[in-house]
Amino acid sequence: MNKEQDVIKMLESYNQNHIINLLKNLDEVKKQELLEQIEKIDFHQIMELYDNTKKEIEIKESKIEPISYLDKAKLSQEQKEKFDKLGEEILRNGKYAVVTMAGGQGTRLGHTGPKGTFKLDVYGKGKYLFEILKENLEEANKKYYTTIPWYIMTSKENNSATVEFLEKNNYFGYPKEAVTIFTQSELPLVDFDGKLLISKDMKIKEASDGNGGTYSSLRASGCLSDMKDKGIKWIFIGGVDNALLKMADVTLLGMAIDKNVQIASKSVVKANPHEKVGVFCKMNNHPKVIEYAELPESMAEEVDDDGELKYGESHIMCNLYTIEAIEKASKEPLMYHSAVKKNSYIDENGKEIIPEEPNSYKFESFIFDAFEFFDDIAILRGKREDDFAPVKNKDGVDSPKTAKELYEKYWNRQEKNN
Ligand code: UTP
Repeated sequence: MNKEQDVIKMLESYNQNHIINLLKNLDEVKKQELLEQIEKIDFHQIMELYDNTKKEIEIKESKIEPISYLDKAKLSQEQKEKFDKLGEEILRNGKYAVVTMAGGQGTRLGHTGPKGTFKLDVYGKGKYLFEILKENLEEANKKYYTTIPWYIMTSKENNSATVEFLEKNNYFGYPKEAVTIFTQSELPLVDFDGKLLISKDMKIKEASDGNGGTYSSLRASGCLSDMKDKGIKWIFIGGVDNALLKMADVTLLGMAIDKNVQIASKSVVKANPHEKVGVFCKMNNHPKVIEYAELPESMAEEVDDDGELKYGESHIMCNLYTIEAIEKASKEPLMYHSAVKKNSYIDENGKEIIPEEPNSYKFESFIFDAFEFFDDIAILRGKREDDFAPVKNKDGVDSPKTAKELYEKYWNRQEKNN
């Protein structure tokens, strides 16, 4: 049997007859390209992930407890000074690097192009999300007499558009030699009937496999060794879509050092029990974030004696690690979750379908699933109005409109205070 027949047999066994039809109709070059891609895909894994979407998520045999945290606003002056001093020392000595996760598809926002290239309509002229992040880093560089190495993770899908955009805008003035762009891995997208989607270039449509891929991609891309060569000790990993993200918070860093932990995270209090954010807890004595879709309703609403949500510390993609912690996380396999997303595809007649409603599963590992590999985490509760202005949805909550308001209010306050 030749390679093509083997592949056809395999595709039949996984019920992927539409891909067999596609193979039959392609010219020789395209056919070989598709065969090569198929050989690299682990269909068994994908079908297992698809089957898991039909099963109910159970949190069983686990001891779940609320997590402890320190509230930044309630630290004593002495405590704050101690943390800040410890954190500042790391920054001043050039032992700090930042990673921006920009490999997401940004399907909810619906912006054509990578999310970092979205222009937030602030102060009339507007600012791109990448530009806002750069300004935050620049502020830290000035304050601590350093140049923080900036690593930007893209996906295969958005890498060239990201590079082009940053080049065209001259990295918004950030020293180019301090910026490294690396790409994350991907997995096929599957429709609700378990069929892999076909893309415009007549291949199986794949998408980045979640921000949990950051750790292994940092290692595979050589960025981790580069960091080691540079003498980096602490690494901040954050999202691309929070206009108030503080990437060099010395209080958070100092708190982690003081507590002698390998990971730390900034949280904000959940706006309401059903806000769509993951929340921190301790599961079987290890730090853990439970995603909103996976948090049982009873837990979401549970309050303590003071009437505060027991599971109210939201994970806002504002995480800090020792380099050893990244190394460890990069070698541990993370579980995949499924997300329901809108993805265009080519149908059986070769026509491109752009769905109005979510039509497919994307399998993603989450950055916070690595927390449970550690015994402890230092959590610093920040303030929503200072730390969290997410740009997720086209309209309504967490949209460009709400982020613009939060951003402008924050900067107006800063101006008044200075
Ligand atoms: P989200 O989970 O909010 O996903 O990403 P998204 O792709 O931006 O948006 P939707 O859900 O499709 O609308 C949170 C952060 O993780 C990054 C994103 O770029 C964002 O900074 N991310 C997400 C990756 O870097 N890679 C991924 O595979 C997924």
